[in-house]
Amino acid sequence: MGYRVYYSQRSYPPSPNLYSMAYNNFQDFLGRLEREGELVRIAEPVSPYLEITEIADRMMKRPGGGKALLFDHPTSSEFPVAINTMGSRKRMSMALGVGDYEEIADELSELLKPDVPQGLAAKLKMLPKLGRLASAPPKTVSEGACQEVVHTGDAVNLGRLPILHCWPDDGGPFITLPLVFTYDPHSGKRNVGMYRMQVYDRNTAGMHWQLHKVGAEHHRRSAEANRRIEVAVALGADPAVTFSAIAPLPPGIDEMLFAGFLRHKPVPLVKCKTVDVHVPADAEFVLEGYVDPHETKPEGPFGDHTGFYTPIEPYPVFHVTCITHRRSPVYPATIVGRPPMEDGWMGKAIERIFLPLVKLMVPEIVDMNLPVQACFHNLCFVSIKKRYPGHAYKVMNAIWGLGQLMFTKMIFVLDADANVQDIDECLWRVTNNIDPERDMLITRGPIDVLDHASREVGYGSKIGFDCTRKLAAEGYNRTWPADIQMTEAVKQRVDAMWHKLGL
Ligand SMILES: Cc1cc2nc3c(=O)[nH]c(=O)nc-3n(C[C@H](O)[C@H](O)[C@H](O)COP(=O)(O)O)c2cc1C
Repeated sequence: MGYRVYYSQRSYPPSPNLYSMAYNNFQDFLGRLEREGELVRIAEPVSPYLEITEIADRMMKRPGGGKALLFDHPTSSEFPVAINTMGSRKRMSMALGVGDYEEIADELSELLKPDVPQGLAAKLKMLPKLGRLASAPPKTVSEGACQEVVHTGDAVNLGRLPILHCWPDDGGPFITLPLVFTYDPHSGKRNVGMYRMQVYDRNTAGMHWQLHKVGAEHHRRSAEANRRIEVAVALGADPAVTFSAIAPLPPGIDEMLFAGFLRHKPVPLVKCKTVDVHVPADAEFVLEGYVDPHETKPEGPFGDHTGFYTPIEPYPVFHVTCITHRRSPVYPATIVGRPPMEDGWMGKAIERIFLPLVKLMVPEIVDMNLPVQACFHNLCFVSIKKRYPGHAYKVMNAIWGLGQLMFTKMIFVLDADANVQDIDECLWRVTNNIDPERDMLITRGPIDVLDHASREVGYGSKIGFDCTRKLAAEGYNRTWPADIQMTEAVKQRVDAMWHKLGL
């Protein structure tokens, strides 16, 4: 059976330079995961209705994120399902072609340095950096493996795909790792976002681009012009491309450019068969179609990444006009639910990789931690180099004004010497350092639409705590105590005698 040839034949030379490893496609990545013992194949027939979720959830809850899983025989489809492929620090880093994703953060910090180097030698050292940027834009190709098989008209049937019905009370099966391609009807600029899609029948699905997301803005602009918006959805690509769809890039920055930057190689894009949209040529599946400006349908419930079901809400409907796929495609999936889940590792990579950009705009920030346990945007520990009275409030407001960080419900601002990656230390400092009445700021604004506690969908309040050492100009007229620390001399003396102490 052709579809059993899951992986492309390309094999990688063993090389310490992981940067050379842009994946040609999703199956290339799966092949590498399998060779490195990071992927487990499951030969047993398993149902995409709840069973895959239960197995994947148990795996994702293992310390460190468990292994990626490849279900060879989902019961309702001829196509295999891969899940949890980015669900550990190692696999997330492998997905981005690096030993550890902090390397990308370091590289971005270098690139963002504002100084123009002096002298020829220093300028020459800039060339690789500039070359890196020059190789980033996507390139259009005339044909792609994603179009090896084409289904149009009556042959369009989403039911052939092993789409997961994730949780018992979900409104239906949901496509959980879609890369949704649209263009701004005014500027023509592309956007790629990951917006889940509830399958209604063989050729329609919900399009869950939330209020604040760029896909929704493109839809609004098309609706104003009373025009349909053409949409294409790629499933399964080089994971750097998938990651770019999740990345909180500012509107107008092309995700395919960012993907090219990450993979050190342009993303090859091919024109769809029935819509004027370009998609990754090596995708596993592509769904082509359109969203009508004024049509909505109840979407949900859906067991979401908050760990709760999001309720039924009206969302636009995606009409599928054509499904194309590779000759032997693998269907990519994830599940979301009570953390930790696979998306926690994606979120952590985003936190680290985007920190240099955040610091570019808010340079007093030293580090930040959006804990997985709090579903990221619910809570942020941030350390700052405090310089002046009210500085913590300035940083809170900056965070609430910065792209998708606007969703942060609780911000704890700490001094530069706090290690915000250590939650024990954060709790110790936060609880000791605040006088709640004085050090708390409650404000209002946009809230993640998945938040079930806010008064309205997408609108509510946020809170910030100034956990820094207080200054006299902030109304603190006592002496702020020092952290308890042993002297270095005593520590060394004890180190030297330690082996004699029998401890
Ligand atoms: C697994 C997963 C599922 C997601 N589902 C949705 C979704 O259904 N709707 C949505 O608006 N954002 C969803 N997101 C978040 C967006 O993909 C993310 O905010 C992205 O940056 C949006 O891109 P945009 O800024 O181009 O709109 C999801 C993220 C992940 C990792």
